[in-house]
Amino acid sequence: MARSAQTLYFCSECGHESSKWMGQCPACKEWNTFTQAPSIPKKRGIGGAPQRQSTGGEKRCVPVSVSEIDTADGERFSTGFSEFNRVLGGGIVRGSLILMGGDPGIGKSTLILQVCASIASDSKSKNVLYISGEESLKQIKLRADRIGKCPDSLKILCETDIDTIMDTVISLKPDIIVIDSIQTMYSSGADSAPGSPAQVRECTMALMRLAKEESVSVIVIGHVTKEGVVAGPRLLEHMVDTVLYLEGEKNASYRILRGVKNRFGATNEIGVFEMSGGGLAQVLNPSAHLLNGRAEDAKGSVITCLMEGTRPIMMEVQALVTRSDFGIPRRTASGTDYNRVNLLMAVMEKRSGLRLSGFDAYVNIAGGMKAVEPAIDLAIVMALAGSYKNKELPAATVCFGEVGLSGEVRGVTGIKERISEAEKLNFEACIIPEVCLKEADINNKKIKIIGVKNIKEAIDMLG
Ligand code: TYD
Ligand code: MG
Repeated sequence: MARSAQTLYFCSECGHESSKWMGQCPACKEWNTFTQAPSIPKKRGIGGAPQRQSTGGEKRCVPVSVSEIDTADGERFSTGFSEFNRVLGGGIVRGSLILMGGDPGIGKSTLILQVCASIASDSKSKNVLYISGEESLKQIKLRADRIGKCPDSLKILCETDIDTIMDTVISLKPDIIVIDSIQTMYSSGADSAPGSPAQVRECTMALMRLAKEESVSVIVIGHVTKEGVVAGPRLLEHMVDTVLYLEGEKNASYRILRGVKNRFGATNEIGVFEMSGGGLAQVLNPSAHLLNGRAEDAKGSVITCLMEGTRPIMMEVQALVTRSDFGIPRRTASGTDYNRVNLLMAVMEKRSGLRLSGFDAYVNIAGGMKAVEPAIDLAIVMALAGSYKNKELPAATVCFGEVGLSGEVRGVTGIKERISEAEKLNFEACIIPEVCLKEADINNKKIKIIGVKNIKEAIDMLG
């Protein structure tokens, strides 16, 4: 039976739907935002081929088997940056929608313009359309001049009306389009101002349809709110195929591209870039870069090796433990989890007899990196103990392992990759959890491998 036309009300802020009018939206708690929906939007299938068949008033769909689905245009194309490809799982998939978030001024527009220039100058000569709602053509030209040469197949458009953009894309048929940024786009389908959640949702939906129907890959740039999520409804992240975040400390030059959702690949990979005078440059060997400038005999500084996706990255953990002048000791953690540092200090106090409770402690990951992998625990413990006792590990030693509440050093994954990264960078010794010794295959290694059972054994190594 056909569904009769129904009056719907929806929140103009978050898009929450209801069959009756309400003063306050139960989803976003905004007042007076409910409006009557003009009509139920016409449903359209995604993926191209019409599946509906009408037979004598009855509506039926025709399911297909997986082997019948045509994947001829499901190709991936390289972005020209191996660090970017890695995060995407190999390259941009045709017809996919990628959302790229990040703080203002972090370098989103710069990186995407560089990617566009590189794709457009590829030998397969792809047509790229960069649509900006934020900057004028002149401003984009100034940025393009800084990053180098932009080929003619890269076209620039300054436009904010999503309907005009859709018509333009349908007539020009580019391979990739970029929307910079989704918060500046405007659709006549929603009444609210550009940037409001309803507008952001409406525009993203239109772009999603465009991507699937026209097989054009869409990269959407989005701003990030104070809370660190892409401004607009959280729904946005559910709608798109891939969500990437570009992050980094404002003052440090490193920028980390992180995948948080990917329908076409793994999400735990990161890409490392460095901001330079000519745009963002790839950092192909992050470990060597991050260890640059390290003081060789620093007490309270320990090198660890963490896995970021499939790639091991060396980082320096620094700790400073000083006698506290006040009743309540001060503790800070930058680049790692504050609560984890407190927990590890409690474990150290109880299990290895270090009287840390009257001391302030500051823990820092050098280079502006963020590290939350459990394997960092042992390095934090060693750095704190080193600073407290004013002792250090033998030079060129790496350590990693998870620390449990009873002070035991627990196994971690990726042992071989971590050890070989340490070997590559000429480290001489590795302190690892004892349970992992078997996996480490210690016989044919030039690096010395030491297994520890608990933090007491590890701390005793400080000489
Ligand atoms: P931008 O890409 O405009 O940031 P977003 O789009 O994320 O807001 O980047 C702006 C910053 O990057 C700005 O502070 C200047 C800096 N920058 C460089 O250091 N070198 C360059 O070559 C370019 C183009 C920008
Ligand atoms: Mg920008």
